[in-house]
Amino acid sequence: MTAALSRIEICVFDAYGTLFDFNSAVARHRAAIGPRADALSEMWRSKQIQYTWLRNGMGAYAPFWQVTGEALDHCLEAHGIGEAGVRDKLMGAYLALDPFAEVPSMMSRLKAAGMRTAILSNGNPELLDPMVAASGLGDRLDAVLSVDEAGVFKPDPRVYRLVEARCGVTPDRVCFLSSNCWDAHGAAHFGFSTVWVNRAGAPDDRLPGKTVAEVRDLSQLPALLGIA
Ligand code: LAC
Repeated sequence: MTAALSRIEICVFDAYGTLFDFNSAVARHRAAIGPRADALSEMWRSKQIQYTWLRNGMGAYAPFWQVTGEALDHCLEAHGIGEAGVRDKLMGAYLALDPFAEVPSMMSRLKAAGMRTAILSNGNPELLDPMVAASGLGDRLDAVLSVDEAGVFKPDPRVYRLVEARCGVTPDRVCFLSSNCWDAHGAAHFGFSTVWVNRAGAPDDRLPGKTVAEVRDLSQLPALLGIA
């Protein structure tokens, strides 16, 4: 067990890219999109996150569903994809993204060990709730928290404060997990014991906040927490 994680009461997960694979939306409709599918998926995610940061800077919060659609519109135009129905198909798929393969069994192991679990995501409840329901993970989650309640996106500290406000756990007892390096730094800077789920094997971002561990996927989490 990692010493910094010895007093953890709750594991709080980022949703997109950490528990759920955002590439599964485009992958499901690869045939309709054609050879531009992978480039579209990468650009869509990148624009979506850029728009959240820019809206934070402008003080112009809008629900993640809207921001995700606006990012998609930009990317479809950039790739010259105008086929009827593609936008609706992709947005529909975003409501039922696949969890990563190791996630269901990892969550079961945490629950069996008595660990509390939650999601803290940029997603608004209208996006998160159907996705959690479709994945069947709802019975292994104690809370699904959305930035919508704070009216601002990550990595604004008001978002990370929602965990104590809603779950009654102080930051020093929270293990936060994100595959998004910037989110991991934001959460660590706020005061959570943070694990970076570095699925892509990417270099670390040079940002404030020190993570306590780095894993390649979430199958390593129970061992990090000392769960057999
Ligand atoms: C989320 C994004 C950042 O779920 O992945 O909050």
